[in-house]
Amino acid sequence: MAEDRPSRPADATRLIHPKGKGDAVCRTVGPVIQRGSTVLMPRAADLYDHSQVTYGRQGLSAQGALVEALCELEGARGGELYPSGLSAVTAAMLAVLKAGDEVLVVDTIYAPTRRFCDRMLARYGVKVGYYPPRASAEDILALGGPNLKLIVLESPGSLTFETQDAPAIARAAKARGVLTLMDNTWGAGLLFKPLAHGIDLSVQALTKYVCGTSDVFMGAALASDPKLVRALADGVMHLGWAVAPDEAYQAMRGLRTLPVRLARHGDSALAIAHWLTQQPEVLEVLHPGLPESPDHAVWARDYAGACGLFSFILKPVPEAAVNAFLDRLTLFGLGFSWGGFESLAISSGDQLQQRQYPPKFAGPLIRLHIGLEDVDDLKADLRNGLDVFDRHDR
Ligand SMILES: Cc1ncc(COP(=O)(O)O)c(C=O)c1O
Repeated sequence: MAEDRPSRPADATRLIHPKGKGDAVCRTVGPVIQRGSTVLMPRAADLYDHSQVTYGRQGLSAQGALVEALCELEGARGGELYPSGLSAVTAAMLAVLKAGDEVLVVDTIYAPTRRFCDRMLARYGVKVGYYPPRASAEDILALGGPNLKLIVLESPGSLTFETQDAPAIARAAKARGVLTLMDNTWGAGLLFKPLAHGIDLSVQALTKYVCGTSDVFMGAALASDPKLVRALADGVMHLGWAVAPDEAYQAMRGLRTLPVRLARHGDSALAIAHWLTQQPEVLEVLHPGLPESPDHAVWARDYAGACGLFSFILKPVPEAAVNAFLDRLTLFGLGFSWGGFESLAISSGDQLQQRQYPPKFAGPLIRLHIGLEDVDDLKADLRNGLDVFDRHDR
């Protein structure tokens, strides 16, 4: 029958192996989006060459371009991408911790990170402790036992915006052979550069300012020490995290405009923070960029600016009045997350009560994310919302 066989391969074969390879690539401004699980190796000898990318989960062109750009931004030697900011924090911790180790975590940590520490790390035999956000480096180290392996920072703190003296903590930890990891989502790799200040592992939720559009989840962890770069890579390989090329492309797109967006977020937020200090319904504004903030000196020394996220404390009012205020806002969406182009507001719910050292505020806390809208329009919206308290007082 062989002589009946057409010289051309059959349709089914030609659909999979067309003549043109389709790999001629023109140069575009953005990175090439390569979608692939299988990576075709040029020769059999390359199949087990572990210095090469042999499988798509390791990341292809778009993911590689993003990691390179983030390393450039933060002065890192290498790093990894993760499918969310939370997975970046948890995977970076898992990459360096083992059973029997102790980790000390800032008490103001993002609540889901705390949940991971309490419910998973502890279950795997890691001792977890918390320290107050304004604790000195010496006080933090004094809390740790002989197996202290890692100090976790998040600065400024979620919801309450205490700014840690990261360089001092990094120095003291290093002198004792303890690693440091910082969730630097607020600083976005631009306003604060953890690795340049001696922190070992710099983590951020790219979901926020890097992506900037509230529609992509991603995280990154970066390091300078080759051993830690290796540990992050091994961790990702063992846990099996992967980031889609289209999403890496989106994050790359956001990264290009990060400096201009962040400057606008920061200027608008500081203007609104100042304005809020003058509103009669407001007791206190929690923003390290305000000269009266107890964190101002550290922030002014270490940060190149502020982002759009801060909180304020209302004069004591019942919870129903807080909700009435939030419900009255029209430009501020009511939603978690931040870093996108839109303004958002939340109340603190029961988050502060979950802390080991809960802050004592005389009234309810509101967190704002200031988006890219016009500042005067945002002030008018807030003023209209604050007017609700007159009616509640009567
Ligand atoms: C400080 C901080 N870190 C990490 C995360 C987690 O990021 P993701 O939502 O991408 O998991 C958040 C999310 O709100 C956050 O606020």
